Amino acid sequence: MKHLIDPMDLSKQETDEIITLAQDIIAHRERYQGSMSHRKLATLFYEPSTRTRLSFTAAMMELGGNVLGFSDAKNTSVSKGETVQDTVRVVGCFADVIAMRHYIEGAQLYASEVSRVPIINAGDGSHSHPTQTLTDLLTIQRELGHIDGITIGFCGDLRFGRTVHSLIKALSRYKDIKVILIAPQELKLPDYIKRDVCERTGIPYREVETMEEVMPELDVLYMTRVQKERFLDEDEFDRVKDSFVLDSARMALAKEKMAVLHPLPRVNEILTEVDDDPRAAYFRQVENGKFVREALIVKLHEWKNDPEHGMPNHDTPVFDDTLRCANSKCICNNERAPHKFRRGEDDVLRCWYCDSKVK
Ligand code: CP
Repeated sequence: MKHLIDPMDLSKQETDEIITLAQDIIAHRERYQGSMSHRKLATLFYEPSTRTRLSFTAAMMELGGNVLGFSDAKNTSVSKGETVQDTVRVVGCFADVIAMRHYIEGAQLYASEVSRVPIINAGDGSHSHPTQTLTDLLTIQRELGHIDGITIGFCGDLRFGRTVHSLIKALSRYKDIKVILIAPQELKLPDYIKRDVCERTGIPYREVETMEEVMPELDVLYMTRVQKERFLDEDEFDRVKDSFVLDSARMALAKEKMAVLHPLPRVNEILTEVDDDPRAAYFRQVENGKFVREALIVKLHEWKNDPEHGMPNHDTPVFDDTLRCANSKCICNNERAPHKFRRGEDDVLRCWYCDSKVK
């Protein structure tokens, strides 16, 4: 059975199939109405969301299916102490597929280990957001006509920005991608993404501290919000919160055919004066999210019993009860998930669920 926990759970071919199907859905919406009739999607959201939850809901409705679930776990038996694994075992009795968002990193991977229906990770803490990645890939394809060969600048909160981590992973499988990382010292991309993704796959990347110096090079500018909810120290948040703001003056430095993406919500990192610029693609990106989630639901259903489309062969886990994941927001430090690790290419042990280093 296929779950989508990390963008790399999809092969390049499967990713391309989803992007292609999404474009066919856009062109021939009537052909897909009813393709999920009598099927149910459960949306289990332990963390707030507007786009992801509602686009999953709209996607399933457009396919003729039904939706159940919760947007606030406080009103469920989670508040009585029910674990994430027990919750998905229960919901799997009612639904054909589950989309889950959780503030705890690795929660969806842990849930998928016992689920009898496909689990879709709709965002786990600051770790991963693979359906946003599919949305971003479809948006780049539609805005520029290609994904291969782009120079993409990631700007803002690259430390906690799960959408950035997931998109860099996915782009590592396209040709001739160049990555420019635009962030203050405190919000730089985690080392494990630089080493295990960029350096291992040979994507050229460089780190800069101003937007102006790179604007003319970019085909895509991927803006992000500084995520207050991920900071443990409010003073640190106050220092960096207004680091990068996109305005008309900065847009004037960019190529005529650049695309500005943002997973949204924005706070003040893109001024509203940019919204009417034809290169501002972030609201079109939102709509793409619905179409790509329709395509994903259709494909996961099609692949459910197809051994050709199982989960990829992960590394062999290392079990060691004397070691601990260093991330207090990881599932293994919040529920009774096993202390399970993978050995990276650099021979460093990292948490199986959240990729953090071992204490
Ligand atoms: N882009 C995104 O994940 O938005 P929401 O948090 O509103 O779902």
